[in-house]
Amino acid sequence: MVASTRFGWRRAMRIRVLPGGVVTGETAVPGDKSIAHRWLILASMAVGTSRLTGIPASLDVRSTARCLASITHRARPALDAWARNVPASMEDGGSTWNDPPSNPQLPVLEVEGEGRQALFPAPDPLFCGNSGTTMRLLMGILASAPFRSELVGDASLSGRPMERVAEPLRRMGASIDTVDGHPPVVVKGGRLTGVDHRSPIPSAQVKSAILLAGVAAEGETVVRESIATRDHTERALQALGGPVDWRAGRASVKRFQHEGFSGRVPGDPSGAAFLVAAAALTGSSLEIHGVGLNPSRLRYLDVLERMGVRTEIRVQAYELGEPVGALFVAPCDGLSPVRVPSDELPLVHDEVPALAAIAAHAPGDSWFLGAGELRVKESDRLATIAQGIRNLGGHAAEEGADLVVAGGGLDGGHGDSQSDHRIAMALTVAGLTARGPCEIDGAEASAVSFPGFVQLLAMLGARVEVLG
Ligand code: S3P
Repeated sequence: MVASTRFGWRRAMRIRVLPGGVVTGETAVPGDKSIAHRWLILASMAVGTSRLTGIPASLDVRSTARCLASITHRARPALDAWARNVPASMEDGGSTWNDPPSNPQLPVLEVEGEGRQALFPAPDPLFCGNSGTTMRLLMGILASAPFRSELVGDASLSGRPMERVAEPLRRMGASIDTVDGHPPVVVKGGRLTGVDHRSPIPSAQVKSAILLAGVAAEGETVVRESIATRDHTERALQALGGPVDWRAGRASVKRFQHEGFSGRVPGDPSGAAFLVAAAALTGSSLEIHGVGLNPSRLRYLDVLERMGVRTEIRVQAYELGEPVGALFVAPCDGLSPVRVPSDELPLVHDEVPALAAIAAHAPGDSWFLGAGELRVKESDRLATIAQGIRNLGGHAAEEGADLVVAGGGLDGGHGDSQSDHRIAMALTVAGLTARGPCEIDGAEASAVSFPGFVQLLAMLGARVEVLG
């Protein structure tokens, strides 16, 4: 049972997870934050009114809305009000996004764009909170804005690498300062010229920042990457009529100005991964509706299949170029350990914590190879996953850039999210079939991408309780 009181995300939350529950039924997940960041940015840069629904109340997306409110004029009141006053039912996991996807009641966020030329300097530094996507994508936008902007973040974001975005944007013509490669980032924008950038690290944030800058640059901007990362920016730009061209490993764009648009943000497939993992561990069947089914986000389903978890997807609609539909999980009757090679790992970056939670219960060792990039996520995820599993009575270790999770189950224990939303959710899920109770500190972090996660698990039959 979840405490019925409303608890805000800022209050530290400790939860207790007990074995014996299920995670079954039909549900939805909050809107995808990757897509929401992009659509909010594009709506703020459009000429005309955009109408967006399904924007998640996740803290990261609110950071983007708040920053955009500071650099826009007519878009400002709606963005600002939305960032501050997300309906309580959304924030705390109430019925807003848990209703059937056809729910006509979803709040509409109307953003009045005046075009990219109309941006103006923020009076204060732009606070990006915990959100790397906010900071990196805004760097791409501000690179063409002819004024000085400063971007800052929380303690975790302040330790994350920004040169991977700053360097190509400098080559395009922007002046960018970082502090030893980290935030605060100061951008002095100006006239941009397209570049042909080969990204040494496959990263959708880097690619998107450059493409968003490229939309305001002279000539063609090309981004090449060795592994094709998520393509939400490309799909949205194309759906808006932009001169964008993309295929595996190469994306290019030319200058254009788009108009206002409408769209409903699909449910977050990476958030869904935690529910899929919870259903798989508890042997439950589960249906998740209204979820984003963009193939660049679903590689984790292949990994799960190798682990013995059977899923099925059904595309039912398209929203601004994004496939949306249902994800079905069949009851799982036996898990296998898995090996995720280094050329697959970048395609499941965000899902490694969920996969590791399952791996802890599989018979034998699972390997996640070449996972060094996980060290510069919201926490050093190689370390926090391994430590979290050990704290819950299992065995896992970092070996250089690899993670090995020994199966055999968890005895129970006391873990901590280390303020990382995906670690909070992974430990919660891992605890569902531990042999003894698990307590997780810092469970409130899940609100960064999945407000109401704990409540939703309880509604679906998990034995999770909030201790305070
Ligand atoms: C994201 C890209 C990924 C992902 C992050 C969101 C995005 O990061 O891990 O959660 O929205 O573009 P990288 O681009 O750093 O791999």
